[in-house]
Amino acid sequence: MKRSFVDRAAVITGASSGIGRELAKALAREGCRVGLVARRQALLDELAGAIRQAGGTVAAAAADVGDREQIRQAIAGIAATIGPIDLLVANAGVGINSTIEPVNVEAAEQTFQINVLGVIYAIDAVLPAMLARGNGHIAAISSLAAYRSLPGIEAYAASKAAVNAYLDGFRIRARKRGIAVTTICPGYVHTPMTANNTSMPFVLTAEDAAARIVRALRGRRKIYNFPWPTAMLAKLGRWAPDWLIAAM
Ligand SMILES: NC(=O)c1ccc[n+]([C@@H]2O[C@H](COP(=O)([O-])OP(=O)(O)OC[C@H]3O[C@@H](n4cnc5c(N)ncnc54)[C@H](OP(=O)(O)O)[C@@H]3O)[C@@H](O)[C@H]2O)c1
Repeated sequence: MKRSFVDRAAVITGASSGIGRELAKALAREGCRVGLVARRQALLDELAGAIRQAGGTVAAAAADVGDREQIRQAIAGIAATIGPIDLLVANAGVGINSTIEPVNVEAAEQTFQINVLGVIYAIDAVLPAMLARGNGHIAAISSLAAYRSLPGIEAYAASKAAVNAYLDGFRIRARKRGIAVTTICPGYVHTPMTANNTSMPFVLTAEDAAARIVRALRGRRKIYNFPWPTAMLAKLGRWAPDWLIAAM
């Protein structure tokens, strides 16, 4: 069933840049009240100003999603301003390359803290109120990298595979309590995160990615992998021999 976003309240983490920023604007254009979370307050304020100027309702709170108390307080403050949260989009993430000589352990720790625990902390911040109301929608921006790790993105791909696995189980339990769960796996998108990437087949703009994500959210898709050519390659890649991946 397709749902309207009019008069709904959504929180988007990682709203200061890239996909999250475009998603916040797109949801606000749909009539959704939006709550913006990220660490860079100045960028959130600038975006909030633009959304307000366009007639939208918005609240912003700076927080590190890797800090459970910070994200809990930020979302509580946002809900006090824009109302009970109907939709969470846990989008905040980092894309740090993995090295093996030496293994960059701190980068892997940061990747898991933000990309995995950051999603779980955000869910924890909205879930009690959704359970009490018996409805809500929780989405996370994972990645097609969840399906096929590649040399250099080991920790990133592992963090996104963890997000998918977490949501696969959570979705089944949440549904019984009236809460929809959507796992979103984009391919390459032009954002500051990918600014230094040299090869990005079937790359999308952040605006295009956000528009597709809004459609998937409206349809309450369980899992949304896009764009389809990259999704197909990522899934076929699971059976590709190592020598083929190494030669790419
Ligand atoms: N771009 C792609 O090709 C692509 C493909 C697949 C999936 N994704 C996923 O899409 C999501 C958005 O990425 P993007 O490409 O839009 O990257 P981006 O432009 O670098 O944006 C990342 C966002 O996450 C926020 N963030 C990072 N660490 C945070 C923290 N500790 N606490 C709070 N916010 C934090 C950043 O805000 P602050 O720095 O202000 O905190 C920023 O708003 C990520 O989960 C990424 O893994 C991206």
